[in-house]
Amino acid sequence: MSVRAIVLAAGKGTRMKSARPKVLHELCGRPMLWYALRALRDAGVESVTVVTNGEVSPHVANIAASAGHAAAGRASDRTAVSAVIQEPQLGTGHAVQTALAQLPAGAGTILVVNGDMPLVDAELLRAALAERAHALALVTARMPLPSAFGRVVRDGERVARIVEARDATDDELSIDEMNAGLYVYDEGKLRAACAELGHDNAQGEYYLTDTIANFAARGERIVPVLAADYRSVLGVNDRVELAAAAALLNRRVCERHMRAGVTIVDPATTYLEPDLTIAPDVTILPNTTIGRATRIGAHSEIGPNARLQNARIGEHVVVTDSVVADSEIGDFAFVGPWAHVRAGSVVGTGGRIGNFVEVKTSELGPGVKAGHLAYLGDATVGDRTNIGAGTITCNYDGVVKNRTTIGKDAFIGSNSSLVAPLGIGDRALTGAGSVVIRDVAEGDRVAGNPARILPQKP
Ligand code: UD1
Ligand code: MG
Repeated sequence: MSVRAIVLAAGKGTRMKSARPKVLHELCGRPMLWYALRALRDAGVESVTVVTNGEVSPHVANIAASAGHAAAGRASDRTAVSAVIQEPQLGTGHAVQTALAQLPAGAGTILVVNGDMPLVDAELLRAALAERAHALALVTARMPLPSAFGRVVRDGERVARIVEARDATDDELSIDEMNAGLYVYDEGKLRAACAELGHDNAQGEYYLTDTIANFAARGERIVPVLAADYRSVLGVNDRVELAAAAALLNRRVCERHMRAGVTIVDPATTYLEPDLTIAPDVTILPNTTIGRATRIGAHSEIGPNARLQNARIGEHVVVTDSVVADSEIGDFAFVGPWAHVRAGSVVGTGGRIGNFVEVKTSELGPGVKAGHLAYLGDATVGDRTNIGAGTITCNYDGVVKNRTTIGKDAFIGSNSSLVAPLGIGDRALTGAGSVVIRDVAEGDRVAGNPARILPQKP
């Protein structure tokens, strides 16, 4: 479809009182700008110009890619997300003028969306785009008062103009139909109206909203598109609104998973990022945060008090009171309470990682047990091996990290220090308190500090 979107994301966001630009503040693990870009992608709009400032612009390509858009191209690229810099920022009308100046003039449709409305969804974008045969489709919402949104002033049924709250009379402030910040324009008519914008208002800015009166004066057809739920168009201007929008977004994500068969015991304390894959019959217990492309298999139970980031969790897994990051947990494994599995680790099928155990960049075979107080770093542990309480892989010699390789069915006694690089064979045993500095052959038994070979049991 010949639609180009302009996303307004250059504002300083002064009300955030932050060194970070407003649209880079995060909700549910993603920057605010991600949501507008994701909604556009879901609505099939691939040609997007983001109006940014110098601080936001270097991030646009990454955010667009993570929202599912094709790689960013040049400003003239018609099927990609590109950024233009608006400097100085003289208002939303000036932002659109800046974008239009960079775009080759065409006869298509221009969708303009504020970059600070993270709850907007593709459905609303599609409803507005469906009216694109008209000069202007203006998305509005009925909203509880008082409100800082621009008011939609009507003349009978017809939309006459938008007045910003700061410029409004008391009568106008009592209007409960708000400007959402989402517009679908005929491009030629938008260009003409933008050329005539002034800045005679409370903020001395060029307001995009003044194009509405301009269209009305020219007798152009303005079609109001009323959002079914005002919460889908809430703008985020300060940190109170940021938290409110994040809670609504989180609720929306939780509800999507609950409808798909996931039990979430307390959505109010379960924090989910938008792009998770969670199978039916997973149970999520309170105080749990799950992010970054995590996948969870059926019948697993996560939480309470768990944090998963970029984790692959199998089926019938339990992760309780623990952290799993950038790692994989096999089917029927049990992690926790108070375990930390991280940095490319794999816990095999039926494994057990218990109280105060840290597993870092280690691969544990099926059935490996490390039940208590251990550190397994840069280790490979064979199937069914038991790691006693207090075992430490001494993987760092002060200069480099070294690997420990332990075979299958081995028994590592409590409080063993395994000084890497080290190999321990299948079915080998280390006695409690061993300090193992040399490789242990298959089936051998060692103990002591430094560990020496013990006679085999008769
Ligand atoms: C704007 C609308 C208001 C509407 C509300 C909906 C105007 C004048 N007012 O008010 O009618 O009800 O959104 O949320 O449009 N921006 C730029 N460059 C600028 C200024 C702003 O890119 O020079 C961007 C901001 O980053 C932001 C968006 O435009 O993403 C809206 O600007 P903001 O200052 O938040 O406008 P509101 O006061 O919320
Ligand atoms: Mg705003």
